[in-house]
Amino acid sequence: MGITIAIDGYSSCGKSTLAKALANRLGYRYIDTGAMYRAVCWHAVSQGFFKGMVLNINALIAALPQIDIEFKYNAVRNGSEVYLNGQNIEANIRTLEISNLVTQVSKLPEVRRKMVALQRDMGKQKAIVMDGRDIGSHVFPNAELKIFMQADMQVRAQRRLQEHQQKGENVSLQDIIDNLKYRDQEDMNRSENPLIKTADAFILDNTFLTREAQLDLILNELHKRQLM
Ligand code: DC
Repeated sequence: MGITIAIDGYSSCGKSTLAKALANRLGYRYIDTGAMYRAVCWHAVSQGFFKGMVLNINALIAALPQIDIEFKYNAVRNGSEVYLNGQNIEANIRTLEISNLVTQVSKLPEVRRKMVALQRDMGKQKAIVMDGRDIGSHVFPNAELKIFMQADMQVRAQRRLQEHQQKGENVSLQDIIDNLKYRDQEDMNRSENPLIKTADAFILDNTFLTREAQLDLILNELHKRQLM
């Protein structure tokens, strides 16, 4: 049946990179829960619920029942992509604009309850790697392996800057650092399911670790715990 692997941590610490590698290696499904909050945020932007930085919370809450989020596998990219009401919005949700607005959406209890219910449903069959901020603490408190990721701020920001540059986007390092600091604070201080390190989480600081070294470390941990 497989196990549940929960990966949490600060923004841009390489959670999704590790999660994808693990899922590939184990033949598990990978669910990027950040993409779900980004999708809701993108819906709010495209429906005009944001005026500048100000969100019309009531309009978004009223629209929640009409928001359908699913993941579909893209064989060309060898990864799953997020769909909102049948439309592939993978490319729309990774912008700095959405990164700057998404915490206003992800802190709303109504939004979180809907996303958590969807995530629990997706994880019912196990054999899943899910990453986010509250996966080990709230979505799957009984996950067989919980990983909490952290890394030095400069390293995190450089990694994110490279991603933007590869897409041809002109973003400054300082803007990225400001955004990461802001989101970390928001994630740790919201009232509903904040980002916390659970006592049973395996702490992974990847400041000086390659992707391969991180994967090896976790595979080793799974062996040690006799989970594979
Ligand atoms: O991982 P990410 O940067 O794509 O996540 C986008 C935002 O969603 C991030 O600012 C925090 C929030 N988030 C959350 O509150 N809970 C999750 N399980 C996943 C993401």
